[in-house]
Amino acid sequence: MVGSVLSAESISVSLRTEQFGRVLHVYGTVSSTNDLAKQLADAGAAEGAAVIAEEQIAGRGRAGRVWISPPGGLWLSTVLRPALTVDEWPLLSIALALAASISIETVAGLQAGVKWPNDLMVRNRKVGGILVEATPAYAIGGIGINANLTDSRIREIGESATSLQAEIGNTVDLNRLAATLLAGIEEQYRRLGSDRNAMLSEFRERSMVLGRRIRISGGAVSDGVAEGIDESGALIVRTEAGLQVLRVGEVSIRVAD
Ligand code: BTN
Repeated sequence: MVGSVLSAESISVSLRTEQFGRVLHVYGTVSSTNDLAKQLADAGAAEGAAVIAEEQIAGRGRAGRVWISPPGGLWLSTVLRPALTVDEWPLLSIALALAASISIETVAGLQAGVKWPNDLMVRNRKVGGILVEATPAYAIGGIGINANLTDSRIREIGESATSLQAEIGNTVDLNRLAATLLAGIEEQYRRLGSDRNAMLSEFRERSMVLGRRIRISGGAVSDGVAEGIDESGALIVRTEAGLQVLRVGEVSIRVAD
């Protein structure tokens, strides 16, 4: 039971955006929506063009991980053509994660924290994630939300996962979630240009990492306390060796229990 059937028509009815999702392709089963969005971008699609699928059979997560994407989830990718320097690209993940966290709150009434930089967490379990794949010409912003995934589906994904349905005991309207998310992406993405510091402050408020002990892996493993998120989106961690600046994409972190 997936709660609602995704359709471009139903999403468009409640879409309140100027640009994001105005070109919208909704599919049944695809390999990965990021791949389809790349094809659109390569063919010249404008910023905001979006791809949504009911199911992905080759969904990708960060660090080459598989992203299990059965029907009932929201699997969405959008074309971004950011006017940012390469150093600022980590901010894309941050803006998308903030948009997704707010959308979950709006549609499911759940507080979704963000585990820097891109994990969406409800009650310490992962409910979604962000994968930004960048080329010199454009970036693809991919967002996955375990929306209407049943308890048994969630168990297949793993102990550390959850879904909106598992948390609220009801399905959510996927079309409304998609329209809300596209509006959120448009708003937070624009704030990168016009209102970046306030956007980052809101992100920090939703962070479930700041002030906590974390374990950093991806290079040498080290432990520390997450002290801040700077204006480039990097995480500042106090370790025994001093302050470390972690850039999005370079490392993974685990929050100590
Ligand atoms: C992560 O937490 O590791 C990131 C997960 C990102 C999953 C989304 S689902 C839509 C888009 N298409 C993909 O293949 N991946 C992203």
